[in-house]
Amino acid sequence: MFIGLIAAAMIAATPQTDGDVPQLREDNIAEVVAAMTPEEKCTLIIGGKAKNFNGIGHTNIGVPGAAGVINGIPRYGIPTVVLADGPAGLRISPTRENDEKTYYCTGYPIATMLSSTWNLELVEETGKSMGNEVLEYGVDVLLAPGANIHRNPLCGRNFEYYSEDPYLTGMMAAAMINGIESNGVGTSLKHFAVNNQELNRLTNNSILSERTLREIYLRNFEIAVKESQPWTIMTSYNFINGEHAAESHRILTDILRGEWGFEGAVMTDWGGGYDDAAIVRAGNEMIQPGSDARYMNLLNAVNDGTLSMEDLDRAVTRILELVVKTPKFKGYVHSNTPDLEAHAKVCKKVADEGVVLLKNNGNALPVSKAQQIALFGTTSYDFIAGGTGSGNVNRPYVVDLMSGLSNLEFNLEPEVDAFYKEYMADEKIRRTRIDGKNPWTIDRERAIEVIPVELIEKSAQTADVAVVTIGRVFGEGKDRNLYYSYLLSDREQELLDRISDAFHAEGKKVVVVLNVGGYVEMCSWQDKVDAILLCWQPGQEGGNTVASVLCGEVNPSGHLPSTMSVSYELEPTAGNFPILYTDKPFNYSFYRQIKGKKLPMNTVKDIDYTLYEEGIFMGYRYFNTYAPKDVAYPFGFGLSYTTFKFDDMSVEPAEGGWNVKVTVTNTGKVAGKDVVQVYVKAPKGELEKPERELKGFAKTPLLDPGQSCEVSVYVSKESLASFNEATNAWEIDNGKYTFVAAQHSMDNSQKVKVKVE
Ligand code: BGC
Repeated sequence: MFIGLIAAAMIAATPQTDGDVPQLREDNIAEVVAAMTPEEKCTLIIGGKAKNFNGIGHTNIGVPGAAGVINGIPRYGIPTVVLADGPAGLRISPTRENDEKTYYCTGYPIATMLSSTWNLELVEETGKSMGNEVLEYGVDVLLAPGANIHRNPLCGRNFEYYSEDPYLTGMMAAAMINGIESNGVGTSLKHFAVNNQELNRLTNNSILSERTLREIYLRNFEIAVKESQPWTIMTSYNFINGEHAAESHRILTDILRGEWGFEGAVMTDWGGGYDDAAIVRAGNEMIQPGSDARYMNLLNAVNDGTLSMEDLDRAVTRILELVVKTPKFKGYVHSNTPDLEAHAKVCKKVADEGVVLLKNNGNALPVSKAQQIALFGTTSYDFIAGGTGSGNVNRPYVVDLMSGLSNLEFNLEPEVDAFYKEYMADEKIRRTRIDGKNPWTIDRERAIEVIPVELIEKSAQTADVAVVTIGRVFGEGKDRNLYYSYLLSDREQELLDRISDAFHAEGKKVVVVLNVGGYVEMCSWQDKVDAILLCWQPGQEGGNTVASVLCGEVNPSGHLPSTMSVSYELEPTAGNFPILYTDKPFNYSFYRQIKGKKLPMNTVKDIDYTLYEEGIFMGYRYFNTYAPKDVAYPFGFGLSYTTFKFDDMSVEPAEGGWNVKVTVTNTGKVAGKDVVQVYVKAPKGELEKPERELKGFAKTPLLDPGQSCEVSVYVSKESLASFNEATNAWEIDNGKYTFVAAQHSMDNSQKVKVKVE
C-alpha cells in the first residue's frame, strides 16, 4: 500500500562529531545549513526509513509503533525527532520486546464527539492531557488533529474530523493544537486539503471551484493556522483540481504562508505525493516515511538542477527550526509514566459534554437507579471507543455500557444480562479466529447482532425500561457502506421492532444509545423508540459516560456538529461520492496504479475524480437554503434534561467586528449547559449566499434552574466576506446583515439586523 517501502539502508549521515562543523543551536541554523552536504540535506528531508508496516506505526527508531521520524544527524547535534499518530490519543505500541511494562495511551473520544461539546476550553484541556502523553512517551510531534470537512456521511475517516462547518472545525482544531502544544511538543494539522473520501485516496482528484475551495475546504485550515500556528501541517494524499496536494506551490506557499502567515514546516502524508522535487519546490519540507527511492529522487533532482539549492536550503531550514523546538533537542528525559488515571478523568469529562440527546419523549430519560434496565444489543457489551486505522489508540481498557451501568449500581435485568454475557463470550472466540489480530482493522469485526425473542417478551413484563445500543465502527482506508453501515441492518430493525412492541405494550419506555463514529439513518426507526442518545465513540471511559447521562448525573449538553438528513439520497453530495463501489472486496484502500507515469485521473467518476458540484452548498448551508424539510436533526441541535430561553439579544460594535450578547436562562428543573450559536445571514448581493452561516459560538457555564447568564460571542467583520472568483478577492457586500443567536441552525428565536458598510 505505501509507496516505496524499501528495506535497504539509505545513505546515512556520517555518524561522527567533527570538531570543525557547527553544533545546532536555536540561533545558528543558517550556519548549520551552510555546512551541510546535499546528501545530508536530503537525509533530513526524507523521513526515517519505514519498516514493513505491521498495522501500528512505520518505525522502530525512537519509539516503537510511532509513525515515523525526522532523521538525526549526530555530527551537527541534530537529534532524531519522533512523529506519532493521532488524533484520539497517542498511537504507539503497547508492548515492547523483553520489557514487561505496558505503554498504553489514553483513548480519548473521537474528534466528532469533541466538537459536539462546542466547548473550546474543554477541548483545549483534552489536548493538554493528550500532549502530556506525547511528551512523557518520548514523542516530539503528534500527527493530529484531523481537520477535514464532513462532506459526506459515508467518508470512512469522518470520525477523525470535527464538523461539516469550517468555522467549528477550525476553532476546534486550534483549541486542540493549543492544548497539545502547551506541553512543548508539536502537532501536525492534517490532511491539507480537500481530502474527503478514502476510496482511491492516493490518486483521487477533488474537483472544485475556487470559491468552494476558499470558503469551505481551506477556511477550516486557515482558521486553525491563524488561531494556533501549529508546528507542522500534513498535506493530503489527493489531488486538488489536477495538482497533487503536496505539490501545490499556490496552496502551500502563496496561500498557506503568504496569505495566512504559517511559520511551521509541512510534511507529506505517509507515502503521499509523486514528484519529490516538485513536493519540496512547492513548500512541502518533509517526505514521510523514508525510502531509498525517494532519497535518490531528491538527490538526483538536486544534482541535475531540477531542485535548486535555494529550495533545498529553505526546506532544511524549516525542518531545523522545528527540530530546535522539540523535547528531543532540548534533552528532555521522558518518564514513560504519564498519569493515565488523571487523563482518564479528562477523557470522561469531555465525553460527558459531547453526548447529544436527540429525542426524549415523555421524559423517558433520565432513568432512576431504582428502575430495572433490560440491556440489549451486542454493542452494550462491547463498546466502541474509537475508529480504526492510524486514528486508533492502544488504550488500557474500554468501559462498556454494561460495566458503566454496573459501576453506578444500576439494576440490570439478570436474565437478559446473563444471556448477552454468554453470547458475547462465544462471539469473542469466533472473532479472534477471523480477524487475524491485525491492529489496523481488528476492531472492525463486530459480534453478530442477536435477537433474544423470548427474553424480550419476558423482560418487558419484569424490567422497567429497555436500553438498546446500536454500534458502528469504521476507519482509515475505506469508506462506509451505505447498506451495512449507514442504514440499520434488517436484524437491527427487527431487534428494535420487537423490543418496542413488547415494552410499549406494557407501557414501558425504550431508549436507544448510538455508539457510532458517524451518522446512521434515523427516520425509518426513530418513531419506534422514546429516547435517543448519540454517544459517538466516546473513548475508553465510554460506558461510564453513558451511564452518567442515563441516570441524569450528567445532563447532556452536546450539539450536532453536522446535519443529519432524512435519508442518504437527500444529501447534497450523494451524487458525487463513491457509494457504488464501497462494497467491493478491496483488501485495504482501493487505489488506481499509475501506469507509465500517468495517472488515470479523468476516467471513472467518484474513483479517479470527484466533482464537488454542490459547491459551498453542503451541510446546513445547503439544507437551510434549499431543503429545510430534508433534515432529520439540524446542525447544532441537541436536547437537554432542562430547557433554556434566550432573551435580550444585542449586537454591539467591537474592535474589528461585533460582540453579540444574549441572556440565557435555564427555564427547567435541573442544572444544565446550553450553547449559543451565532449565525449571520448576508444581504442579497452579487454572489449567491447560504441562508446563514455560523460565525461564532459559546457554551454557557452550568446554570441552575431559574439561573441566567449573559453570553457574549465575538464575530469579526472579516468573517462576513465571501470569495469572489471574478475579482479573486474576499469581499463583503454592503447592506443589512441578520445576526441570529440560536440553539441550532434552524432556530430563529433571537435576531438583530446590523448595517454593514
Ligand atoms: C494517514 C495519516 C497518518 C499517517 C501516519 C496515513 O496513512 O493518512 O493520517 O498520520 O498514515 O500513520
